[in-house]
Amino acid sequence: MCGIVGYIGKKQVAPLLVDGLKKLEYRGYDSAGIAVYNEGAIAIRKFKGRLSVLEDYLENEKINGSLGIGHTRWATHGEPNDINAHPHTNNAGDIAVVHNGIIENYMKLKEWLISQGKIFKTDTDTEVIAHLIDYYYKNDLVEAIRSAVQKMEGAYAIGVISKNSPDKLIAVRKDSPLVVGIGEGENYIASDIPAILKHTRRVYFLEDDEMAILSENNIEIFNELGQKVEKEVFEVTWDIEAAEKGGYQHFMMKEIHEQPKAIRDTLSPRLNENNEIELNEIKLSKEELEKINKVTIVACGTASYAGLVGRYAIEKFARIPAELDIASEFRYRDPFVDDKTLFIAISQSGETADTLAALREAKSKGAMVLAITNVVGSRISREADNVFYTWAGPEIAVASTKAYITQMLAMYMIALDLGRKKGTISKEDCNEIIEELKLLPQKAEEIIENDQIIQELADKQFNNQSVFYTGRGIDDCVAKEGSLKLKEISYIHSEAIAAGEFKHGTIALIEEGTLVFALITQDQLFDKMLSNIKEVKARGAYVVAIAKAGNREIEKSADKVIYIPDTLDVLTPMLSVIQMQLFAYYVAIARGCDVDKPKNLAKSVTVE
Ligand code: M6R
Repeated sequence: MCGIVGYIGKKQVAPLLVDGLKKLEYRGYDSAGIAVYNEGAIAIRKFKGRLSVLEDYLENEKINGSLGIGHTRWATHGEPNDINAHPHTNNAGDIAVVHNGIIENYMKLKEWLISQGKIFKTDTDTEVIAHLIDYYYKNDLVEAIRSAVQKMEGAYAIGVISKNSPDKLIAVRKDSPLVVGIGEGENYIASDIPAILKHTRRVYFLEDDEMAILSENNIEIFNELGQKVEKEVFEVTWDIEAAEKGGYQHFMMKEIHEQPKAIRDTLSPRLNENNEIELNEIKLSKEELEKINKVTIVACGTASYAGLVGRYAIEKFARIPAELDIASEFRYRDPFVDDKTLFIAISQSGETADTLAALREAKSKGAMVLAITNVVGSRISREADNVFYTWAGPEIAVASTKAYITQMLAMYMIALDLGRKKGTISKEDCNEIIEELKLLPQKAEEIIENDQIIQELADKQFNNQSVFYTGRGIDDCVAKEGSLKLKEISYIHSEAIAAGEFKHGTIALIEEGTLVFALITQDQLFDKMLSNIKEVKARGAYVVAIAKAGNREIEKSADKVIYIPDTLDVLTPMLSVIQMQLFAYYVAIARGCDVDKPKNLAKSVTVE
C-alpha cells in the first residue's frame, strides 16, 4: 500500500525520487521520505504528511547525489509521524531501507536484535530490516541482504542502499509488487510502473524471493538460491497521460468519464465477426467445463460487489450454483472447493493480499482458477490458471469506478460464455444481451453528460448523518457498491440493505428526512419494491428512487426519481452504479473531502 522508487545513475536523484513518488502517492500518503547517498554519507529527509511537505523542504534545502531511494507511506506499524516515516537505517546510518508490506515476525526479530545491541528508534516493522542487514554485514552488502531476508517472514518489497556499496541499488520482493526499470547508464526500481514511466518503458517484474542488483550500467537478478535468473523484458504500452488527470479536477471524475471507453475496450475485442463472445483467454476443455459443479467467486470491497452481480449472472445464464465470498474470510471456514470448482478471483490491482491468499488456498485444493484483473503482470494474474483482463486502463483514484464496471462486464461475459457452452441460454437470448451490452457505452455517456440533476441532489443532501441504499435482486447487489462509494470518499455513514430485510431491524434507524436511495429497476420486482419504499416513507424517509427511463409510476411514491436509460433488467447495474458514483463524488466535493485520497485508505491493499 506504500510506494517505493529508487534510482542509480548520473542525474540528481532527489527531485527524480519526489517526481516518481508523486505518481505513487495514491498508494499511501501519511508520510514520505528519501535517502540519498553523496560523498561517503547517506542523507535522510522524511516528514509526516503529504509528499508536498517533503517537496517544499527540498525546494529550500537541496540534497546532492545520484543514488537514492524514496517512499510514500500508509502506516501499519507505528503512527504516522516523522520518525516512523521511511527510509529507516541501522544505528550507524550507513544502510538505508524502504519497505512495502509487513514483516510478521518483526517483534521476535526486534527482541533478538536488541539483545545483540541494536538500538531501535521507531515503532515500525521495517526498522528490523536495516538492523538485520547491518547484523549480517561482513563487507558484502548482497550477502548481508540475502541473510537478512531469510530471517524475515511476511510480505515485503524492499529497496536498499549503503554507504559502503555506493555503486549498488538492491531490491528484493516477496508477496509485494516491485519492478525494475531499465535505462541507459541509469536504472530504477519502483513498486508501480507510473513512478518510472517518464524515464523508461522497459521493465522487469521481480518474482517472489528474487533479488535485483542494479548499478548504473547493469542489472543482475538472482533467485533465492543465489542463482542468476534471465528475465524477459516487459514493454509498457500505455502512456503516462493515461495515468494523469487530463484536465479533470480529480482522477475519480476522469475515471467515471472513462467508463464508456472502458466498457468498449473490454467488450469489443472479445466479440467475433458473428457477434459471439469468444474468450480466448479462458482455456477450459470440454471435460473441464462439464466437470464444473460450482463457481466460487472471491474478492474484497468493490470487487466483491462486482462478484455479487457475477454470482447472479452465473446462476441465471449458466445455471451453475455460485457463491461469493469475502476474500479475507474465505480461508477461515475450510471452504468446500475441489477440482470441480471454478474459482474466480476478482481484483483491480491483482495484488490484494487476501484475494491472493484465497486464490492460493483454492489452487491448493485443486480448483480451476480464473482471475479477473486490470493489471497485467500482477501477482494474481501470474498465479491464476486463466486471466480475463479488464481493459479499463490504470485506475488511480482510491475509489474504484471504471474497474468495477468492467469487472461486472467481465462477469456477464463469462456467465454468457459458460451458458452458451453448456446450452443453458439460447443463441437468441444471448444475442439480445450482447446487442444491449454494445449499447451500454452510449447509455453510460448519456448519464455522465447529464449529471446536473445528481449534482443538484448532492448539493442539497451533503449534510446527512447517515444514508441508506436498498433494492431487490440484482439492484441489491449494486446498492452495496453505491453505499461503499459514498462512505469511502465522503465519510458519511452509509449502509446498504436488501429491501425485504429493512423491516427486520434497520428500519428502526429511519427518521424524519433520512435519505434512502431505492433502486427500482427490475420489472418483476416493481410492486414489492414499491411496498418497501412506502414502508420507509411512512417513517419519514426522503426517498430517491433510481428507475429505468419511462417508468413514471414511481414518481407518485418517491420524493425524487433519478432515471437511467432503458436497458435489460439484468444489465441495469452497469448504469445505475454511475448515478451512485456521481452522487458520492459530488457529496464528497460539497463536504470538502479529498476525493482521490480518502483518509485511512490506500489504493492497493497488500497486507492481510
Ligand atoms: O485491487 P482490488 O480490486 O483487489 O481491491 C479491492 C478493494 O480494496 C477495493 O475494491 C476497494 O474496496 C476500493 N477502494 C473501493 O472503491
